[in-house]
Amino acid sequence: MLSNIFSWLDERIGLTVIYRLVLDRKVPKVNWWFTLGSASLFLFVMQGVTGIFLTVYYVPSPDHAYDSIQFIMNGVAFGWLIRGIHHWGATLMVIFVFLHMLRTFYYAAYKYPREITWVTGVILFLATLGMGFTGYLLPWNQKAYWATTVGTEIPGTAPLIGPLIMRILRGGTELSGVTLARFFSVHIWFLPAVIVAMIGIHLYLVIRLGIASIPDKDD
Ligand code: HEM
Repeated sequence: MLSNIFSWLDERIGLTVIYRLVLDRKVPKVNWWFTLGSASLFLFVMQGVTGIFLTVYYVPSPDHAYDSIQFIMNGVAFGWLIRGIHHWGATLMVIFVFLHMLRTFYYAAYKYPREITWVTGVILFLATLGMGFTGYLLPWNQKAYWATTVGTEIPGTAPLIGPLIMRILRGGTELSGVTLARFFSVHIWFLPAVIVAMIGIHLYLVIRLGIASIPDKDD
């Protein structure tokens, strides 16, 4: 019965071809450090799923953001768990993406023909940090407010364009509801869209070029 359903689908959408192309590939001798990219991918998906659940109750306005988080923690069934996974997952993702970057650098996997894999990786790393920065403001508590005040002041000290960058980040001269609204929008729309697009190119290239083997002393 199941195999009949499988053959029916396979004939129409080519499941076996997708499986062979994506999962059944030849890989050189690897070690545990090569699992960090997949771990980063898993964490990103986890952040996406828990983030979508959080938006059900989170309200991105100065009057309600703090209370909506309190409600998620104390009033919503398993809200504390979803928020906890999203909170710790964010830290883990930064660590895993960074370690994955170190691994590919250490094994010189950024060299020809994988330069574009590396460049998309750099964008992914910056976007991951951007997710952390924009997400930190959303609970709208004292720590979030003052951390973002300092965090937006730092680029503000750059010569010439600094004040303009700070105004763009804050949506004005001070932190306000406008800042919260734009950080929320960047956190749930702009950066996830960039990350999804970059992961698409990144993984396409990993499949197309294969994994680089560990360089030996003659390389
Ligand atoms: C959300 C972030 C990222 C995800 C989901 C991701 C995912 C992956 C996956 C699944 C692979 C296959 C091999 C492996 O796992 O080691 C890979 C390879 C690679 N990644 Fe990433 N990556 C991310 C960020 C980065 C960053 C920040 C860099 C560097 C700046 C980078 C550079 C590379 C390179 C050069 C390869 C090819 C490695 C090889 O052929 O041996 N990636 N990535």
